[in-house]
Amino acid sequence: MSADYALHGTVAVITLNNPPVNGLGLVTRTAAVDGIRRAQDDPAVTAIVITGAGKAFSGGADIREFNSPKALTEPTLHTLIRTAEESAKPVVAAIHSVCMGGGLELSLGCHYRVALPGAQVALPEVKLGLLPGAGGTQRLPRAIGLEPALEMIVSGNPVLSERLPALFDEVFAPGTDLVAAAVAFAEKIAPVRPLPKVRDRQAAHADAAAFLQAARARVAAAAGPFPAPLECVETIAAAVSMPFEQGLAFERERFMHLIGTPESRALRHAFFAEREAAKVPGVPADTPRRPVEQAAVIGAGTMGSGIAMAFANAGIPVMLLESSPEALDKGLTAIRAHYDGAVGKGKLTPEQLARRMALITGTVQSAEIAGADIVIEAVFEDMAVKEAVFRQLDDVMKPGAILATNTSTLDVDRIAAVTRRPQDVIGTHFFSPAHVMKLLEIVRGRATGNDVLATVLALAKRLKKTGVVSGVCDGFIGNRMIEQYIRQAGFLLEEGCTPAQVDGALERFGLAMGPFRMSDLAGNDIGWAIRKRRAAERPGMTYSKVADLLCELGRFGQKTGAGWYDYRPGDRTPHPSAQVDALIVDHARQAGIAPRRIGDEEIVERLVYALVNEGALILEEGIALRASDIDMVYLTGYGFPLYRGGPMFHADTVGLPNVLAAIERFAAGAHGEAWRPAPLLVRLAAEGRGFNDR
Ligand code: NAI
Repeated sequence: MSADYALHGTVAVITLNNPPVNGLGLVTRTAAVDGIRRAQDDPAVTAIVITGAGKAFSGGADIREFNSPKALTEPTLHTLIRTAEESAKPVVAAIHSVCMGGGLELSLGCHYRVALPGAQVALPEVKLGLLPGAGGTQRLPRAIGLEPALEMIVSGNPVLSERLPALFDEVFAPGTDLVAAAVAFAEKIAPVRPLPKVRDRQAAHADAAAFLQAARARVAAAAGPFPAPLECVETIAAAVSMPFEQGLAFERERFMHLIGTPESRALRHAFFAEREAAKVPGVPADTPRRPVEQAAVIGAGTMGSGIAMAFANAGIPVMLLESSPEALDKGLTAIRAHYDGAVGKGKLTPEQLARRMALITGTVQSAEIAGADIVIEAVFEDMAVKEAVFRQLDDVMKPGAILATNTSTLDVDRIAAVTRRPQDVIGTHFFSPAHVMKLLEIVRGRATGNDVLATVLALAKRLKKTGVVSGVCDGFIGNRMIEQYIRQAGFLLEEGCTPAQVDGALERFGLAMGPFRMSDLAGNDIGWAIRKRRAAERPGMTYSKVADLLCELGRFGQKTGAGWYDYRPGDRTPHPSAQVDALIVDHARQAGIAPRRIGDEEIVERLVYALVNEGALILEEGIALRASDIDMVYLTGYGFPLYRGGPMFHADTVGLPNVLAAIERFAAGAHGEAWRPAPLLVRLAAEGRGFNDR
């Protein structure tokens, strides 16, 4: 049973009991319906209270039943709500802590609602590209009025119970025994007839038509490519224009429509992908973790100072170790300037600034960081330098300290091998700016201990990051894939595109930034250094020389005021550059490539399928644990559009046979040597399956 039944005098108390948040799964729904029926049949019962055990009244639908036929098995949520609403004896919802989605819809079917203050009340379906599908769009406007209901449903954001007087018949004083108070309330209202039903009320608004018209315009402008917010407005409008039953049917129809949209599928995929990413086979949730009370970061450059802020923002004390007082001072000044800027913008109070700065201390003595529980190395990307740092860490750090490297490309196993404790070594690959970007690639070395991995996964959460585990390879998941994407972008220039054309196509596809703007931001010299290394490592690998020629001109990007674009002093707006255009045309002529007109579709396919094909190799090699992990990397670290669900999910949506056909077409084109379809892609396409349903 996942709902308990107990008699408190003449009042039956049904307690939803499905940890962690009393999701309304089939077993819980069945037990709740049985409870209401049992109370009906017991002549001694005069009223019914429904409440929730533990940490919630109810968090709504049981996410474990998403995409499963169980969600549609009787008794459905609709049936449960109707059973409560049609009960001949009054039903009181007694709400505390969390009352969301289907939980709120259930309470709206009850005749009365009482609550403790501080309960989070929400209809968050829109965040999954849906709308409340169990009467929420019809009952909430009738319960609290059109305007506040629209705000809650369209935003999906929680509102505290004490701020919703119209929703509740009583909000008790803090600290009240909820069940005892709800039972007393139920005894009081037990004889009252007729039973009040939200469905019988009108959705109140002085000028509903004008309000809805304005809401349509406002919501459409804010929703971007997502259809759900506007669908929410239309179903809420039905609460005004249609009788209740007709409105419910309309809600159902629009809900079923949204379930099938690619945007909602993508949002649901991302929602589950984020949860999945935290799970690692062989590292169960109860794996012992090491304490992380004190952190240290080595190198106070771009990344080190950002990583230090990420720790301070999470309330974890952090020491910054630099090689010289000057470099340390530079890093601390940059941190201070960043926080001052945040105070200036009103994002941080002066007290918060003081608290965060107090958590960051600087040193140039390695002995001073010896007691840290975790140390993250963020020095220059040079194996010899990193090896020297790790030898030193091995000598000074206390036993059991986690030794992490922020390297973006280097071999974590080789770094671990210079220590006598490779089990303590792990990669923590932050993305720039490290205190902002959500992604943390967690690189699991051959010897990395399970407890170390579990600790860093938990630390990612504390730092408010999405941790995704990667195996060891050059570039790990994200940068290994992006190299192929950038490579295609270079080829497209030789074949007739301009940087602005390529960027524009990707940005219209939905990426936050096209490849050339991104390179200008990160610094074109980084890719230059990698290409020089590649020339030695993989002599057969072809790439466009245009980027090298650009770097030879010193056009490293925004930091030098010129890159793929021109920049005016103090302004990050990219302006197409005549010098770069001429460079591209000259180079193509010398290479003997005739320019042709290339459309958005080819540009997007070339770049995105380059990601997908490399992603398939990464998956097959076991570098990524699952396709959805790759999607998380791209959604949280590379600005891939959320409504497309990530590159692998996008490929599944397009259909792998179509992706493969495009790749085969490219393989016959001007830079065909860069395309070799990944065996996994070929196999899945032949089997009619997707990456995400392996
Ligand atoms: P950076 O050049 O801005 O900073 C490196 C800092 O390390 C300098 O301040 C330097 O004084 C210090 N340093 C060098 N050797 C040291 C030592 N032995 N002891 C103490 N401090 C030392 O470099 P950045 O960009 O911060 O990169 C650091 C690491 O992070 C590299 O491995 C890089 O590949 C990686 N990374 C960089 C990203 C980026 O976007 N810049 C993104 C993700 C990773």
